[in-house]
Amino acid sequence: MSYGWEGEKVRLVPLDPEKHLENAVLWLNDQETTRWLLVDMPITRLQEKRYFEEMMITKEERVPFAVETLEGEHVGFTGLHEIQPRHRCARSGIVIGAPHQRKGYGIDAIRVRTRFAFEALGLRLLLTETMAENEASRRTLRKAGYEEMGVLPGRYWRRGAFRDVVQFYRERPPD
Ligand SMILES: CC(C)(COP(=O)(O)OP(=O)(O)OC[C@H]1O[C@@H](n2cnc3c(N)ncnc32)[C@H](O)[C@@H]1OP(=O)(O)O)[C@@H](O)C(=O)NCCC(=O)NCCS
Repeated sequence: MSYGWEGEKVRLVPLDPEKHLENAVLWLNDQETTRWLLVDMPITRLQEKRYFEEMMITKEERVPFAVETLEGEHVGFTGLHEIQPRHRCARSGIVIGAPHQRKGYGIDAIRVRTRFAFEALGLRLLLTETMAENEASRRTLRKAGYEEMGVLPGRYWRRGAFRDVVQFYRERPPD
C-alpha cells in the first residue's frame, strides 16, 4: 500500500502535528532557513499549532504537505496555495529543514508537487517567487522546470535592505 505522493527520494504526505509540528517550530525559528522567506518573525508553538489546525481542514484553495523521505523521516514542508480552479492556476512554496538541505529532497519534492498539481488537481499554471539572493531556490526551481519571467526590483524589505524578487512560472506540458 502506498501513502501520499511518491517521488524518487521523498513522499508528500498530509500534515500530522504529532510527526511534523516540532520540526516546523524548529526550522521556522532558524534564521538561516528563513533568511529569504517572507516571514521573518519568531514563531511560537501555539501559533504553529493553530496554523496546523487551520491547514489540516481541507479547502479547495490550498493543499499543504509535509515532505518525508521514502523511509519516513520528516525533512520539510511544501504546498500549493491560492488555487484558482477557474483559471486552473496556483502558487507554491517550500521549506526543507536545515539538516536535510542539499540532499536532493527539495528538487524531488517540487517535482512531485508539480505532478500532483497537474495530474490530481488538473491545474495548468504554477506561479512562485523568490528573492534574487536565494540562489538555492532559483537553482532548484529552474531544475524543476520553472522559468523566470521577470524581476520586481526592491519588492520586499529583508534583512536590512529592499530586495529584488524573481517571478517564476511552470506550465503544464501539452498532453
Ligand atoms: C531552496 C531549497 C528548497 C532547496 O532544497 P534542497 O533540498 O536544499 O536542494 P536540492 O538538494 O534538491 O538541490 C537542488 C539544486 O539546488 C542547488 N542548491 C541547493 N542548495 C544550494 C545552495 N545553498 N547554494 C547554491 N545551490 C544550492 C543544488 O546544488 C542542486 O543543484 P545541482 O543539482 O545543479 O547541484 C532549500 O534550500 C530550502 O528550503 N531553503 C530555505 C527555504 C527557502 O528558501 N525556500 C524557498 C523559498 S522561495
